[in-house]
Amino acid sequence: MNPFLARLQPYPFDKVRANLAGVSADPALKPIDLSIGEPKHPTPALVKSALTSALDGLAQYPRSLGLPELREAAAAWAKRRYSLSELDPATQVLPVNGSREALFAFGQTVLAPGARVVCPNPFYQIYEGAALLAGATPVFLNEGRRFEELDWRGVQLAYVCSPGNPTGRVMDLEEWKALFELSDRHGFVIASDECYSEIYLDEAQPPLGALEAAERLGRKGFPRLVMFTSLSKRSNSPGMRSGFVAGDAALLKSFLLYRTYHGSAMSLSVQRASIAAWSDEAHVRENRRLYAEKYASVLPLIRKPLRAEKPQGGFYLWIETPIDDAAFARRLYQQYNVTVLPGSYLARESQGVNPGKNRLRVALVAPLAECKEAVQRMMQLAQSL
Ligand SMILES: Cc1ncc(COP(=O)(O)O)c(C=O)c1O
Repeated sequence: MNPFLARLQPYPFDKVRANLAGVSADPALKPIDLSIGEPKHPTPALVKSALTSALDGLAQYPRSLGLPELREAAAAWAKRRYSLSELDPATQVLPVNGSREALFAFGQTVLAPGARVVCPNPFYQIYEGAALLAGATPVFLNEGRRFEELDWRGVQLAYVCSPGNPTGRVMDLEEWKALFELSDRHGFVIASDECYSEIYLDEAQPPLGALEAAERLGRKGFPRLVMFTSLSKRSNSPGMRSGFVAGDAALLKSFLLYRTYHGSAMSLSVQRASIAAWSDEAHVRENRRLYAEKYASVLPLIRKPLRAEKPQGGFYLWIETPIDDAAFARRLYQQYNVTVLPGSYLARESQGVNPGKNRLRVALVAPLAECKEAVQRMMQLAQSL
């Protein structure tokens, strides 16, 4: 057995199940599950019809490099979205089967055993798993801390997530500048997870992306930088497993080599559907409108002793609780039949604190009425404490 497998941590959803084991929910109330970040708005018709029109693709082996048309559609989207002067579809873009596998596989590509890997805290657990299975050691940067406060010696890879899951926070240009300077000085690679980039509340303020920040700061060729994006949230198609990475051509060349052996080529049918999805923005605006509507109805319902801020991006509420998050989540399930994710399950104790403690992550993925109902039940519990 690979000895590093034993170092993997239980996944947050396993911890949710363990937290609720033996607890029965009130059967009189309709169950509402907001614990999982799975988009639930309908998959756009244009994506479905592009997929079914391309079923002939099932008869061929796809190449890991992907179709030139897909890389061109992805590059054209990224150039439009991030005002990039250049992004070469031949060398600076690669299709991936969703950002999750790519974030994991990228760690296996760039890390040598013994490396240190910087992860945000709280964070998406795949970063930690990628580090551990590569024989590296994760190092956590607690929410609210600056990149400059870390000891970067021995760091080979830094994962960042903007808009952040679960916080919804977006990195600004100053933070990118600091991170790029540290990468130049210490030589580490930056993996920028931007799978929530298209879910934001202010149409006039799309979240800043890594490539955009690099371009604005005059960095040519995106040295040591790769961004990860996905159709899962943008186009409500998590089952399609489609995304792409873009950035440093030399890194992507090695990543392609790794992927060729790993066998992670994207089905040609999915590639065709992905071209349709990356080439249309109307469905993405409609998707944002639905989330904006939910935030507008739900945020005003949250009052003391709970607290939540409007996020800059993503589809989560990151709610502060007056008592221990896991205890609150258990009572919420037992008394109100609502399932949410305790924040401490999404973070590690670092420098003496777990930055997810006394927080809940609530995914606003259910229909509007259910999201409102869930938050109302949460308030009833909070006010009864
Ligand atoms: C922060 C973050 N990154 C990556 C992913 C993976 O998404 P996908 O593989 O569907 O692109 C998720 C999914 O929930 C996520 O929350």
